[in-house]
Formats: sequence, structure tokens, C-alpha cells
Amino acid sequence: MPANQQILLDNRPDGEATVNNFKLVTTQTPALADGQVLVRHHFLSLDPYMRGRMNDSKSYAASQPLGEVMIGGTVGEVAESKNPKFQPGDKVVGMGGWQEYSVVDAAQPGALRKVDTTHVPLSHYLGAVGMPGVTAWYGLVKLINPKAGDTVVVSAATGAVGSAFGALAKARGCRAVGIAGGPEKCKYAVEELGFDACVDYKLHKDAHSLSKALKEACPDGIDGYFENVGGMVLDAVLLRMNAFGRIAVCGMIAGYDGKPMPLANPALLLVNRIRLEGFIIAEHMEVWPEALTELGQLVGSGKLRPRESVAQGIAAAPEAFLGLLKGKNFGKQLVKLI
Ligand SMILES: NC(=O)c1ccc[n+]([C@@H]2O[C@H](COP(=O)([O-])OP(=O)(O)OC[C@H]3O[C@@H](n4cnc5c(N)ncnc54)[C@H](OP(=O)(O)O)[C@@H]3O)[C@@H](O)[C@H]2O)c1
Repeated sequence: MPANQQILLDNRPDGEATVNNFKLVTTQTPALADGQVLVRHHFLSLDPYMRGRMNDSKSYAASQPLGEVMIGGTVGEVAESKNPKFQPGDKVVGMGGWQEYSVVDAAQPGALRKVDTTHVPLSHYLGAVGMPGVTAWYGLVKLINPKAGDTVVVSAATGAVGSAFGALAKARGCRAVGIAGGPEKCKYAVEELGFDACVDYKLHKDAHSLSKALKEACPDGIDGYFENVGGMVLDAVLLRMNAFGRIAVCGMIAGYDGKPMPLANPALLLVNRIRLEGFIIAEHMEVWPEALTELGQLVGSGKLRPRESVAQGIAAAPEAFLGLLKGKNFGKQLVKLI
């Protein structure tokens, strides 16, 4: 059995996470038992939720245990199988973690899913046609529930979730407006992702200034907001929400290091009769098939052309992950392992 490089969570961060929270080790992959499959990972997904798992505090999911392989989504190829449903060479998506290989009890429901790479590249099953894409779909379709002509806004617009949100919103006839960090990301949002406008939040030092820019980009106000960031961005959007607007709270990445993020003017929720709802996509497995079908069609037809930031080799994962938390990624952050 092959040697396997793995990244463990070695200790918990105090404030900002650092590379010293992780440890690279090499182990031997164990021999397979009946029903098991050995998967060679081609790509590891890096996602903001992993920062929350590094803490030891109460949350919607259990903490990442110390000394164990970091949790993470993976796509790869079956290298060896003692399960009749999987053959060597099958392309699969699973939760293999920050390592080069995983041994999977493939009989467990949902542990390993075969994917078709005829029209969709394997890596996209970790992004637009995977968990981040379904997340965008759920927030837009089930929580914001827009009608054609509505203005919908998303923060972290060029990321894995945000870019899928833009394509899904355009497919529903909405005015789609992104908020992103920097001129290059905003240009890409409009020219490549099809957003009608994109506001660079880094040009604004406070919520009032950002909200003026949002007024220009959203002349009819904002009917739906997909929140990925929190802090000043949320304060600015709240100033522009229309009456009976909907806010899908997906992420609050600006606060993942534990700094409090007070809301400047919560009375706006009442004044504008806003419906605001947080969600965790793993709790809505019922929408995955429908969402993945639409996302696969958007990617297959070229209407959604997601960008990827690819780090090379497992040892690069911690640095790439810390970069993701600071917006150094451009599109879906992956680690290529072969
Ligand atoms: N609820 C769920 O089930 C669920 C599932 C998946 C993802 N999420 C959440 O969805 C959000 C997006 O995830 P993703 O995987 O698509 O990541 P991503 O957007 O590809 O990457 C994160 C982006 O967040 C932005 N960012 C980072 N720090 C920021 C700050 N202080 N202020 C403003 N923006 C900041 C950066 O973009 P800029 O350079 O444009 O600022 C960065 O590129 C995250 O909040 C994540 O936790 C939630």
C-alpha cells in the first residue's frame, strides 16, 4: 500500500490561524478490508468552514479533533477496491480530508459518490457542481426566492459560492450585483461571471460610503442579499434593502477569527420588514440532486465558467487555506495532489 502524506490539526489557533497549527506527517495506507475502497485524491477542497472546525467552541458541527487528519472534501480516482460497486479508475467525490489517499467504507450511504467527467472537469465537483454551488442554489432559490427583475446582491462574489450565485441569479432574470475585494475581482465578476455590476468594498472605509456605491449599482434597491462576509458589508447592504427583502445568511467570514461584529443598525430589519435566515447546506440534502442538475447544466453549457486557485502538493495546503481566509484566492481554492 502507498505512503500517504497527511496534514493533521496539531493545536488550536488563538485568534488568527497560522501554519503552526498544522503538522505534516507520512503514514502507510492500511490494507483494505471487505467493502473498503482506496481513493487516490486528485484535488483537495479548501473551504472557509474549516476555520470554525479548528476552534473548540460550540457550533453547528463538532470541532476537528487534535492530532487527526483535517476534514475536507476531495475528488479522485479509485486506486483499489474491495467493494463491488466501485472499480479502479472510477472518478469519485468524498470527504477524504487533507491527505493524498483515503480508505473509505464505501458501503456507508453518501461516503463516496461516482461522478461523470464527460462534460464537467473533476475539480468542479468540489466547487460550482459541488457543495459551494449547492449552497448558492439553496440561498437563492429557497431563501431569497427572487422573481425576474429583482435585484439580488452577493458578497465574496468571485468565490466558489458567489460565482455560482451570479450564474443562478442571471438564469432567473434577476439583476445580479456582486461585492468583491479589488478591481481585478470586480472586472472578472462583470466580464466573465456575468454580474450586471460589481462593487469593490476595499475602496470604501465605512458602511455609508459603501452603501452609496451600492445605490449606484442597485438603482431600484436590493430585494435579496446573500451574505458571505458580515461586518461593514452587511451594514452597507442593510441601508439599501427594499421593504420585504430577504437575506440568506450563508457565511460571516470577516469574523471567523473570533472578533465580534456588531450590527450598526438592526432597527433596519424591522423598518424594512426583512426576512433574514441563516442556513447550513449539509442540513438540506433534499435539494442537492435538483441543485446539482442545474449547476451541471450551467457549467456544461459554458454559462458558468468558474475560476480556480490551485495550490500544488499537500504541503502547500495550510498556506493556501490561510490565504483563502484573507481573500488571496481568486475563485475556488483547491490543492492539486497529483
Ligand atoms: N452556510 C453554509 O452551509 C456554507 C457552505 C459553504 C460556504 N459557506 C460560506 O460561504 C462563504 C463563501 O465561501 P466560499 O467557499 O465561496 O469562499 P470564497 O468566496 O471562495 O473565498 C472566501 C472569500 O471571502 C472574502 N473575504 C475574506 N475575508 C474577508 C473580509 N474580512 N471581508 C470581506 N470579504 C472577505 C474574500 O473575497 P474578496 O477578496 O472578494 O473579499 C475571499 O476570497 C464563506 O463565508 C463560507 O463560510 C457557507
